[in-house]
Amino acid sequence: MHWVGERDREPKAAHPIRVLVVEDESVVSKDIQESLKGLGYAICGTAFAGEEAIQKAEALQPDLVLMDIVLKGDIDGVEAAETIRSRLHVPVIYLTAYSDEHTLNRAKVTEPSGYILKPFDERELHTTIEVAMYRHTMQKKLKESERWFATTLKSIGDAVIATNTEGRITFMNPVAELLTGWNHAEALGNELSDVFSVRDQDGCILIKNPVTKVLEDGVVVDLRNSLLVGKEGTKLIVDDSAAPIVDDSGNIVGAVLVFRDVTERRKAEDKRAKMNGLLMAIRNMNESLLRVKSEPELFQQICESLATVQNFNLVSISLVDKDRYEIRPVAHAGTEEGFLPLCNFTWDELAEGRGPIGTAISTGTPCVVNDTATDPCYTLWKPEALKRGFKSTIALPLVNNGEVMGSLDVYSGEKDAFGPEEIEFLMEAAGDITVALKSLRLEKELASSLVAVKKALTKTVEAIAYMSEMRDPYTAGHQRRVAKLASAIAREMRMSEEQIEGIRVIGFLHDVGKIVVPAEILSKPGRINEAEFSLIRTHSSVGYEILKLLEFPWPVATAVLQHHERLDGSGYPGGLESGQLTIEAEILAVADVVESMASRRPYREALGIEKALEEISQKKGSLYNPRVVDACLKIFQEKGFQFEEPV
Ligand SMILES: [Fe+2]
Ligand SMILES: [Fe+2]
Repeated sequence: MHWVGERDREPKAAHPIRVLVVEDESVVSKDIQESLKGLGYAICGTAFAGEEAIQKAEALQPDLVLMDIVLKGDIDGVEAAETIRSRLHVPVIYLTAYSDEHTLNRAKVTEPSGYILKPFDERELHTTIEVAMYRHTMQKKLKESERWFATTLKSIGDAVIATNTEGRITFMNPVAELLTGWNHAEALGNELSDVFSVRDQDGCILIKNPVTKVLEDGVVVDLRNSLLVGKEGTKLIVDDSAAPIVDDSGNIVGAVLVFRDVTERRKAEDKRAKMNGLLMAIRNMNESLLRVKSEPELFQQICESLATVQNFNLVSISLVDKDRYEIRPVAHAGTEEGFLPLCNFTWDELAEGRGPIGTAISTGTPCVVNDTATDPCYTLWKPEALKRGFKSTIALPLVNNGEVMGSLDVYSGEKDAFGPEEIEFLMEAAGDITVALKSLRLEKELASSLVAVKKALTKTVEAIAYMSEMRDPYTAGHQRRVAKLASAIAREMRMSEEQIEGIRVIGFLHDVGKIVVPAEILSKPGRINEAEFSLIRTHSSVGYEILKLLEFPWPVATAVLQHHERLDGSGYPGGLESGQLTIEAEILAVADVVESMASRRPYREALGIEKALEEISQKKGSLYNPRVVDACLKIFQEKGFQFEEPV
């Protein structure tokens, strides 16, 4: 028994080859049938005429038809074979006694699977049938495979174009038709560059066709972000790659180009990058807003931060000048090139007032010009704007307590640059600017009022000190000199400027309680008795009582109360010890003793600075804070401290 494709070792269906025998001579037909049976084939039917052959072939679906060319009836074997082959795809072998040129040519056109001349030889019949069946099976497989490839290429999401070695199109799938605007039929045979025309992303430079390079060099070529210009002028951004088609011998027989539309993806990526840029710029801006010390610096920082955003070609801030009815630019960053002074923006009813800035200021809402070339409200500024590449612009009002104080303006190098997200971001930036501006102005007001208050306080303190010393000429200037020394000690001890200022004030006021001591006692020459001394010792408590009524930002009253206390508890009025005293009182105690000993008193001559320093050195740690003593010695001995007046 014979099996289909015996030489093909793949498993096959187990049935003999079924042959339809078409022969008008019944004797010959029988002979053929016998031979076929003898060779192991099955006879599924016989026919004597062309029409009958077609009908039987349709009804019986044979694996093979053996066809005589000359038949009785209207249709001869060639015609019948053509119908059977094309309609049923059944292989046909001619078996004929005729071998003239004309008949052969007619038969050839029908692409027969074999041609056997009568009288036939069984071996030849066998071989011809086997070869015909093998070829038929192979062709069927090839067709299936081609169908599979074609279906795959048609159904994939990427566009595919194949070319021959000359770069002419041999195939394109539906996605390629859609993206290029060319249909398959009209594109076939065209040069690839006619159908697939790519430029750089800006559309300016024509890019060399990737397939040309593939065919020249035999390498795979990848291109990203090319601009594909379609048949109707449509523009798409595509990523593409082209690879050579190589035959079994390694020869390049064509190229295949695969590309996809990435326009939306690229747009989304660009948008995301732009948003990130904007976010970074606003973050940088907010960080710098915390550091700025003046309004011009604030405006400049904002403009510079925002001008870092891609396509934000110019960023400016303008403030409203109510007196002149003008909008005055105060800062800018980016490509200005003299643009702002030319603009002459206002917010009145004239044309100049109807621009984006005027509108933003008069309405208190952002105003966008999506296309400076076509927006009628931008006609006045259009020529200068376009000269500098400003294709769209936005103005955002800077609103403080319901009052529009100016505008933040951004000019972009692309049209339609300000979508809802950009507007939201920029409005947030405008809000941050207003807050920063407000706090800067408040800070300035506070600073100036603090300066005024401090000035008044200093004058008050000096007046009180002066008043108390008026009654006591011998200690005139004592408090001022103590203040100077005490604050110098505090500075040497690296205390804060605020604390140093407090110590200076305490020094000025520390003996204010002597106001209750009669002037005669204070200026009495010679020794004073115990009762008089007791009265004098009340001055620190009295000073405390007076000063506690005043609200100082420093512990003035407490330090005054403690300035005659000593570390070992031997001082007055509380007999307090180390650890219970404020540092201000400890500094004041040292400064007070040094100044007193160095000065003349009604009851004695000046002892001199050397004696004074000796005294505090000896009592360092027992009566006086060692750190304070060390600082005091250092400023006299190493830093040349002197009281203003000769002592
Ligand atoms: Fe005192
Ligand atoms: Fe004193």
